[in-house]
Amino acid sequence: MITEKDFVFTTITNAIEKGNFQWSAPSNIALVKYWGKKDQQIPANPSISFTLNNCKTITKLAFAKKHFDKLSVTNNRFSFDLLFEGKPKEDFKPKIQKFFERIEKYCPFLRDYHFTIDTENTFPHSSGIASSASGMAALAMNIMSLEKALSRNFGTEMTEDFFYQKASFLARLGSGSACRSVKGSVVVWGNHAEIEGSSDLFGVEFPAKIHENFKNYQDTILLVDKGEKQVSSTVGHDLMHNHPFAEQRFAQAHDNLAKIKIVLETGNLDEFIKIVESEALTLHAMMMTSLPYFILMKPNTLEIINTIWRFRNETNIPVCFTLDAGANVHILYPENVREHVLQLIKGELVGYCQNGNYICDSIGTGAIQIL
Ligand code: DP6
Repeated sequence: MITEKDFVFTTITNAIEKGNFQWSAPSNIALVKYWGKKDQQIPANPSISFTLNNCKTITKLAFAKKHFDKLSVTNNRFSFDLLFEGKPKEDFKPKIQKFFERIEKYCPFLRDYHFTIDTENTFPHSSGIASSASGMAALAMNIMSLEKALSRNFGTEMTEDFFYQKASFLARLGSGSACRSVKGSVVVWGNHAEIEGSSDLFGVEFPAKIHENFKNYQDTILLVDKGEKQVSSTVGHDLMHNHPFAEQRFAQAHDNLAKIKIVLETGNLDEFIKIVESEALTLHAMMMTSLPYFILMKPNTLEIINTIWRFRNETNIPVCFTLDAGANVHILYPENVREHVLQLIKGELVGYCQNGNYICDSIGTGAIQIL
């Protein structure tokens, strides 16, 4: 079994003076949700997600070796500048600092360089779409490119499997769901008895063949509320400790993952809808039943859900919704009903979106190297 130790970088090298890499990494939408975690970003239950295609973060990592005299203490710290859309962004720095601290053990070479991290999202700023998954995944990819180059310099060729596995491992330490944004269209994170190779440490590609029905599956994100969330995911996860329903919930996630595995193989869309909608509502039920309790849905979130249910009853079109930790609604549907669903969105649902905003996305394949 793979353990944390396998990801510790031991090669003594810092022979590369400077350079840069650039990666894009997508967002993802969970079908079975991750909600609750243990120490070191270990999930309380396994989760599974569709990787998105259009909503992504593009991050360039420029690195230059630090030259310091041995007396200097400051040089032993992480040293980086952070640019968002080309401009310095101080508010993002603490998150990156914390990420570096968490992964230092696995990538000690981070202290040898000064970094300029230049990042941007393809989706609008403050759209209420979490950028932590795509952002942390994009940064992890760049760090792995550097590690790969350092290894090569030392005469060791890193395998592709290790590259992606460790990238997902690092991304997880930045933000749990980020480990599902590295590689593959459908990704499982967390130990599950029926998913071969699944691990709490990193995401793995869904190991079986996926039914045609899910090919190019669509996700239209209705932007109901673009404001800052009142409760962060981190706080929400924390409230699953001592939550009265925690154990049942974690057991249910294992069950739902076993069920959705069959659904993804057989293409049973009715079952898919049941599992996905139930997972979304359970996620929010956990929030409503924690102490302190909170509600992230807005009135328009419920309007949208009810409209989708009415439309589905009337037309039998297999469209369903899911929710993240926020008020926005992801509408999931097969490609062959796209026109009908877009008509519903443009004709009716757009009225429930803030400033009429929504984003059309579909299943993607994972991170892509640009430079
Ligand atoms: C509701 O991955 O954002 O989107 O690990 O604290 O960074 P941290 O949490 P995060 O949690 C996402 C939770 C979710 C469900 C999911 O994506 O599985």
